[in-house]
Amino acid sequence: MCSMNSTSTDKTELKNIYRPMLMKIISIADETKDTRTLRLEFSDQKEKDAFNFKAGQFGLYSAFGHGEAVFCISSSPSKKGYIECTFKKVGKVTVALRNLDIGDTVGFRGPYGNNFPIDNLKGKNLLFIGGGIGLAPLRSLIDNVLDLRSEFSNITILCGARSVSDFIYKGQIREWESRSDLKLVKTVDALTSPAEETEWKASNGRVGLIPKILADINPSANNTYAIVCGPPIMIKFTLQELEKLNFSRDKVITTLENRMKCGFGKCGRCNIGPIYICKEGPVFTAEELKNLPQSDF
Ligand SMILES: Cc1cc2nc3c(=O)[nH]c(=O)nc-3n(C[C@H](O)[C@H](O)[C@H](O)COP(=O)(O)OP(=O)(O)OC[C@H]3O[C@@H](n4cnc5c(N)ncnc54)[C@H](O)[C@@H]3O)c2cc1C
Ligand code: FES
Repeated sequence: MCSMNSTSTDKTELKNIYRPMLMKIISIADETKDTRTLRLEFSDQKEKDAFNFKAGQFGLYSAFGHGEAVFCISSSPSKKGYIECTFKKVGKVTVALRNLDIGDTVGFRGPYGNNFPIDNLKGKNLLFIGGGIGLAPLRSLIDNVLDLRSEFSNITILCGARSVSDFIYKGQIREWESRSDLKLVKTVDALTSPAEETEWKASNGRVGLIPKILADINPSANNTYAIVCGPPIMIKFTLQELEKLNFSRDKVITTLENRMKCGFGKCGRCNIGPIYICKEGPVFTAEELKNLPQSDF
């Protein structure tokens, strides 16, 4: 009796929290020369039915035999039955993930972390500012918001990349541009040829770093939340510009990419002082960021 009890308890307690769910790659989109989006579907129907996440959350994706890497979930929670991740090839795991094909299996643990506070954004003007691959976590929220369009006020998306070919989600950006219920502003750091310049300008593209273009478009801070994601240097100068535009820090939201290992508060790899970014983040307001130890923001 005693041993039966302990066996069933052991079974529950020994459930491996690091065991990934299995997911099949159902489509692949090459965004740039080194950035790729995978659409993944759960292999197990029960796991598929039970799965839920919110925009801003992340997962650990494994290429078996090579390890795990952390990516945000870049698709919208309103799109059911699959998730997408968009990753840049930088090292061991991302190279291994790039070598996989449609029909291959990857591991997924998650969703982890907090999320963008979509309920607080309802009824507000939204200003999305995404730089480079930083558009990936924003896309999850943008698509979620667009699927509930009537619940939000004016929407502006400012997105930037180093060059025209470095934009991720080119097709989706064109789709956003064609909508009359949002304003899209796109910018590149530099153009590479006169022909590209003609085409870019004809499509209303701008040239300049995101903080400068932000100052040029001069958005009103009134009843507006700004949601910012990109490389740390871009976030830093964009937050400064938003402050000049009178955005209060609690209305500016961003997401951090500290190194992570476990994803759920066990390993201590991701902390800034007492804060575990994997649990209390990755989404923070600019006010919260300012109060982090040794904050650079
Ligand atoms: C919450 C969160 C969300 C993320 N979302 C995405 C995403 O959507 N798409 C994406 O491409 N990447 C994302 N990242 C970064 C991604 O996790 C790393 O690039 C990835 O782990 C690299 O794995 P790798 O084995 O290929 O590279 P590694 O061999 O581990 O590293 C290659 C190089 O990248 C550096 N590196 C690794 N991890 C990080 C990091 N977190 N920050 C800065 N430098 C790092 C290493 O020092 C090394 O120079 C996210 C990270 C976090 C924490
Ligand atoms: S990644 Fe392990 S504690 Fe945050």
